[in-house]
Amino acid sequence: MERNFTIRYEEYASSSLLRPEEKRLLDAAIEAADGSYAPYSHFNVGAAVQMENGAVISSANQENAAYPSGICAERSALFYAHSKYPDMAIVAIAIAAKCNGKVTQTPTYPCGACRQVLQESQLRGGKNIKIIIGSATKVQVLDSVSRLLPFAFDNLPQEAAGPESENKKG
Ligand code: THU
Repeated sequence: MERNFTIRYEEYASSSLLRPEEKRLLDAAIEAADGSYAPYSHFNVGAAVQMENGAVISSANQENAAYPSGICAERSALFYAHSKYPDMAIVAIAIAAKCNGKVTQTPTYPCGACRQVLQESQLRGGKNIKIIIGSATKVQVLDSVSRLLPFAFDNLPQEAAGPESENKKG
């Protein structure tokens, strides 16, 4: 039997058409991109995370001469947000990238590793995380991490835990 996914998202021609709180978060991501350290890729990414209490944590990608040692803007912001507010849900994240000081023409989507971290952030908070992805030509809004990462891995199956283990999360 064939089964299909459809991925629902909103698309706007300009960030001025977003809900005010979404636009604020996207503006924070665009501003955060200025803190990027990207001497190797010259690709400056900013991410802004909104907590349930309204607090905003933003960050940017940080590269390293040993390439894999660097980190994406999204994971940097998510990990700091969880460190600062360990028990608080994240409700939204905005992402935007700049090249030569200008917001890119096309959206920059989170890499696979960041999607996996987003998945656990959503699980941990127990609330859907809204994802706002900006660019100079369009802005896309997804209402859950599951839109970005269907068929997610989020725990070991019961069988892996053995008969005595409760295999509990967290
Ligand atoms: N990067 C991010 O920070 N976020 C993304 O969503 C995609 C990629 C960074 C990693 C690296 O510093 C640079 O962009 C080029 O891949």
